[in-house]
Amino acid sequence: MPRHFITGTELRAEELQGLIQRAAELKAAPDSSDALRGRSVALIFQKPSTRTRVSFETGVFELGGHPMVLRTDELQLSRGESVRDTAYVLSRHAAAIGIRTGDDELVSEMAAHASVPVINMLTPSHHPCQALADLLTLQECFGRLDGLAIAYVGDGNNVARSLIEVGRLAGIDVRVAAPDGYQLDPHDGATLTGDPREAVRGANAVYTDVWVSMSDDPASAQERRRDLAPYRLSDELLDLAAPGAIALHCLPAHPGEEITEQVLYGPRQRIWDQAENRRHAQKALLELLIGA
Ligand code: CP
Repeated sequence: MPRHFITGTELRAEELQGLIQRAAELKAAPDSSDALRGRSVALIFQKPSTRTRVSFETGVFELGGHPMVLRTDELQLSRGESVRDTAYVLSRHAAAIGIRTGDDELVSEMAAHASVPVINMLTPSHHPCQALADLLTLQECFGRLDGLAIAYVGDGNNVARSLIEVGRLAGIDVRVAAPDGYQLDPHDGATLTGDPREAVRGANAVYTDVWVSMSDDPASAQERRRDLAPYRLSDELLDLAAPGAIALHCLPAHPGEEITEQVLYGPRQRIWDQAENRRHAQKALLELLIGA
């Protein structure tokens, strides 16, 4: 049976720890692995992407493989071919399949029929590849993960959920501050609050994300900006965190909305490292999933 990476919780805690360690090694020596030599990885993008596309494409290349980027209109899937048949065919050519889509069920169906690992490159509910890069960034900054406290402020979205679910495996306490109607379900297992100051107090990192995501109705944008305005990541909010706290953002950013320009480009951000770390973390993930 192939190993899939759909929510991130498919990994055992010790595997996650090893993956982050391996990602750090690959960052130090990007050309040291040829785990994908002579093999292809199918990368299906049904939604726009900058970081996920360039980090996977470059990462597969650095591992000696061929990244096969497939956009929606390039696949017969867009003309009614079934997910099952698509999974069967891609599995005959590719060592792994990555998919970014607006449909969580589609990823599960692909995984059910693929005979190679399927990687969730973002769905409305999960963004586990982002969480791996987040953990690598935290490990670099603090030299540990277990016992850290992270405050996520703003929209309780797929990024927040994956941060909680994958962070929990690493022993991280994730607190999410969001207004009513934007909060995650209680069963997600984190500390949930409506008060951003309460969430941030004593945290080692403060994390935010866009207020209007790809899966949100553009007609709701104005209302969302109004509701989420008290949750903006500013220097004043960051000052409430622990000494040495860092600012994180999965990007793309909208300076002046969910984050101020001062924080986005300031001395306490590790946001651009976080974006780079997508590549290193995903290379370690690919090695793990294909059993290299
Ligand atoms: N963080 C992230 O997934 O960025 P992209 O949407 O640009 O891939």
